[in-house]
Amino acid sequence: MKVPSAPAIERVLFSEEEIRDRIRQVAAEISGRYRNGNLKMIGVLKGSIFFLTALARELSIPVKIDMLAISSFSNHSGAPGVVRIAKDLDDSVEGEDVLLVEDIVDTGFTARYLLQTLAGRGPNSVGLCTLLDRSARRIVPLEIDFKCFEIPDRFVIGFGLDYKQLYRNLSYIAVLKPDRNS
Ligand code: IMP
Ligand code: MG
Repeated sequence: MKVPSAPAIERVLFSEEEIRDRIRQVAAEISGRYRNGNLKMIGVLKGSIFFLTALARELSIPVKIDMLAISSFSNHSGAPGVVRIAKDLDDSVEGEDVLLVEDIVDTGFTARYLLQTLAGRGPNSVGLCTLLDRSARRIVPLEIDFKCFEIPDRFVIGFGLDYKQLYRNLSYIAVLKPDRNS
């Protein structure tokens, strides 16, 4: 693992190796659950693309992939709850086993909005998979079907997660230094 030298980083939470191992385990769970299904993973741009591609490569079943983008005021410091779709899916989800793939579930507003929207489009099933769960900050109760890691109430970057659009490409997940976290 590369030693983090970026000044924004306080400490590494999960190394590249830990993330890879955990993603393998979750991919095996997903492959089992959807063995006889019609799985379509739906990624939320841009944060979940790193997780989605890593996860999809570890699956042992066929999978379709589609993406949407949201604009959200539901960030760590802002007023939560206002979410809208800025770029919609390319294809219908009718009859498919939809798995929403998120980078992080925080307050839960984003995931709830997307799950409800997808459920209204006639899929066979709708599930939720997230790389990170910060359940200490949850406002909206949510059932998470698959999750890799629970995290403490700190702002994190890396493996898709950004601070002001930076640091998504870090191969590990790290806590942002508090003075950058405002
Ligand atoms: P929620 O609607 O509050 O659950 O917000 C989830 C969204 O907020 C995620 O998809 C991220 O885009 C963003 N977010 C929440 N916490 C963090 C963090 O610690 N680092 C980077 N982005 C975050
Ligand atoms: Mg996001």
